[in-house]
Amino acid sequence: MRLKATALVLILALLPLGLPGQSANAPVTIKVDAAHPGAAISPQMFGIFFEDINFGADGGLYPELVKNRSFEFSEPLAGWHEVMGFSKKGLDVPKGELDIRTDDPLNEHNPHYLRARAVEPGYSWWNAGFRGIGVKEGAEYRFSAYVRTHGPKSLNAVVNDENHKPVATGKLEGFSDHWKRYETVIRASATADKAQLVLSLDEPGAIDIDMVSLYPVDTWKQRPNGLRKDLVQLLYDMHPGFLRFPGGCIVEGRRLATRYRWKRTVGDLAERQTLVNRWNDEFDTRPAPDYFQSFGLGFYEYFQLAEDIGARPLPILNCGMACQFNSSETAAVEDLHEYIQDALDLIDFANGPVTTPWGKLRAAMGHPAPFHLTMIGVGNEQWGPRYLERYKVFAAALKAKHPEIKLVVSAGPFPTGEPFDSMWSNWRQLHADIVDEHYYMSPEWFLSNTARYDHYDRSGPKVFAGEYAAQSVGSTSPNNRNNWKTAISEAAFMTGLERNGDVVQMASYAPLLANINAWQWTPDAIWFDNLHSYGTPDYYVQKLFASNTGNRVVPSTPHSEDGLYTSAVVDDRSHELILKVVNYAPTARTSTIELAGAGASGSARVTTLATSDLTAENSFAHPQNVSPQAGSIDIKDGKISADLSPYSVTVFRVSMR
Ligand code: AHR
Repeated sequence: MRLKATALVLILALLPLGLPGQSANAPVTIKVDAAHPGAAISPQMFGIFFEDINFGADGGLYPELVKNRSFEFSEPLAGWHEVMGFSKKGLDVPKGELDIRTDDPLNEHNPHYLRARAVEPGYSWWNAGFRGIGVKEGAEYRFSAYVRTHGPKSLNAVVNDENHKPVATGKLEGFSDHWKRYETVIRASATADKAQLVLSLDEPGAIDIDMVSLYPVDTWKQRPNGLRKDLVQLLYDMHPGFLRFPGGCIVEGRRLATRYRWKRTVGDLAERQTLVNRWNDEFDTRPAPDYFQSFGLGFYEYFQLAEDIGARPLPILNCGMACQFNSSETAAVEDLHEYIQDALDLIDFANGPVTTPWGKLRAAMGHPAPFHLTMIGVGNEQWGPRYLERYKVFAAALKAKHPEIKLVVSAGPFPTGEPFDSMWSNWRQLHADIVDEHYYMSPEWFLSNTARYDHYDRSGPKVFAGEYAAQSVGSTSPNNRNNWKTAISEAAFMTGLERNGDVVQMASYAPLLANINAWQWTPDAIWFDNLHSYGTPDYYVQKLFASNTGNRVVPSTPHSEDGLYTSAVVDDRSHELILKVVNYAPTARTSTIELAGAGASGSARVTTLATSDLTAENSFAHPQNVSPQAGSIDIKDGKISADLSPYSVTVFRVSMR
């Protein structure tokens, strides 16, 4: 009796989740009705969220190899070390000295510089890079620095591998007593992933040096100050519909003084003021005292990246509130004009004619054409009356001048309860454009929330699922994994997003990037080290959905039942019907897919992401362990007979007549 009652409770508990019961083994008929397309949706709904967390920018996407190139970290010599001489007695004193100075600097935004004084020829010092420097055999690197001399005529640069063997050498020379930038291109003779950059002076005397840079020549699209090629390739391959930047909490700052200010991230690199990264000391378990923002990857580069990968830009701006999990500092409403002016000027920077000051800067930086900005986020993960008060001031000013720009607002950090409910009721009353929801929840939550948007008000604000990821252990746990269970749960949930694409206009997994040697937050879509990168199973789910979008929803049944989740769209651009099926069951499932109204014949293209092992992961050694397999399948009498693999995500693409 007791056992039976327990079993019943278990069954009842599983039913609402749509998790597989006994009938998961039974053959299933999936019906897709292309003759009755539903709501129009955006084919750009699946995008990416970028934040400089986990050394995602400096030490990641922004491939500068010198850490603290401008000596502006709070420890100005962080990342830099002197080379000790060796005497017969062992370790000796260095043959000179390093001194951080501020008199007559390069510019007011870059107040510190290094004075290196050689007492004896051969005095040398080195930079450790971002957990080492990665160089590839045969690749070229631009070594550059601003230099002013007090004697020495040249500066040597040597890249030493982890065994102190030189793999690249170069020299800057011809210095004067004025600041000037010098550059030379060096080639690596071998690959090294934990190299060091060693600088030295051949003659006694001092030089002043700033903005010391070792930068790959081979960047994405070969752009100077361009981005790391393998990482952008992974992003490009996703076909993201939009790029949200620069975060996340980084927008807010722990205090207002350290908030993200886009104007300080554009223009001359040497004038972009370094700022502490808010993830520097956020987690005791993962301290990163050497985490700063050089802003080499700034707002111009973000817009350029969005354009390069075919994504709509979505900048998120500070609305006068620092992180509410930290200081929760708030700018007085009377002082919001600076924040609002930043937003107005950003619209000019992105879209304005080159006759406006900010449009002129965009053109001077290399992009006279507009970047086609259509939306801006007002605050990141904000909530409460103080936020609403500030939003109203922002919205009034922005809508008055730019009614064409949609504003993204926040529903707070959690997907249910307070403050989520009260924020939503306010956003409905205020007729907000798009509301950003975040969910860092368990895989089970994702599986049981596939119908979350089925009953959302169709006439209210639209939804941006702006940050989500299934947490295998729990939100902010350093033990979270990117495994197949998290990924397939997200896939099931995403069928619900797509089915409700008329309400959920955008969705992005978060965070995007993590340096395996310097991360603060897990899980993340893409992991990398100094030379390699790979997409997690979660990445491949994102890629599968973003690469298979349509512009109208088509009814599909069943859509959230017995461990089977489906969504279907038609793509008017390619005249295809696209069906996504998630089989969350340990067994294969025989299915008949009835394609009504598609006039389908011949064969369908099939892409499958599957493994029966829910703990399966990708890694540097096995980057494609869980990755899509392409094939085709016959269509007979408008039907497909398919065996859905255990724990699988399958996309069928069918040409419509
Ligand atoms: O994605 C990591 C963080 O999670 C984001 O910065 C923040 O918006 C959320 O709390």
